[in-house]
Amino acid sequence: MNDAHYNRMARVLHWLIALLLLAQLAFGWWLGDIARDTPARGYYVNLHKSVGLLLGLLILARIAWRLRHGAPALPDFVPHWQQKLAAASHYLLYLLMLIVPVTGYLASNFSKHGVKFFNVLVLPPLGSDDKQLYALFNQTHKASAPLLLILVVLHVAAALMHGLRRDGIFSRIWQRSS
Ligand code: HEM
Ligand code: HEM
Repeated sequence: MNDAHYNRMARVLHWLIALLLLAQLAFGWWLGDIARDTPARGYYVNLHKSVGLLLGLLILARIAWRLRHGAPALPDFVPHWQQKLAAASHYLLYLLMLIVPVTGYLASNFSKHGVKFFNVLVLPPLGSDDKQLYALFNQTHKASAPLLLILVVLHVAAALMHGLRRDGIFSRIWQRSS
């Protein structure tokens, strides 16, 4: 059995961000159902932006923690190619977790709307009302979100496989070291 576990902060951030991220992805796609140029759309888009900004900060904190504390090494029974694949997929997950909120935020700085933080505090756009830059960042935001979801689905499938095998990998992120 493997005894190396993620520390408490890494575990808390993993599960907190997982829940919020899945909810925020669903929220984003649900925005598509709200008619454009209506007050309801403005309200919910600003709510999405506000939660997204907070989530982005949480993700930055997680990445900073990870860079400082590292991750426990996988046990030797995990084949070398699987260790490489796990590391690459985790790297990609972090990258997409960054790209999605950052491009959303960048896009909002090149539209006249800016961000109305929780529909109360106006954060004025830092750039000009530039349709091309807005489209570039907005399209990247919309394209990277489904990529992130696909990667999460594969990640969960791998985690469940380990859980079914009871090889101790799942508990690395679930419980403290015994
Ligand atoms: C939005 C959802 C999720 C994201 C973005 C995510 C992301 C990540 C990342 C980046 C790591 C690597 C941690 C590191 O080395 O710093 C990780 C580890 C892990 N995740 Fe997730 N995760 C998500 C949901 C889940 C779910 C739902 C499960 C289980 C059903 C799960 C199971 C695991 C396990 C078992 C590990 C530890 C892998 C190891 O021991 O190396 N994750 N996750
Ligand atoms: C991790 C955080 C975030 C996630 C997971 C996320 C996810 C999504 C998703 C799935 C969509 C729907 C895309 C589509 O219709 O094809 C969306 C739309 C949108 N997001 Fe985000 N988002 C996040 C953060 C942000 C932030 C920080 C902002 C801006 C400050 C933002 C602004 C927007 C806007 C304006 C739309 C509507 C785009 C349109 O319909 O043209 N998002 N988001």
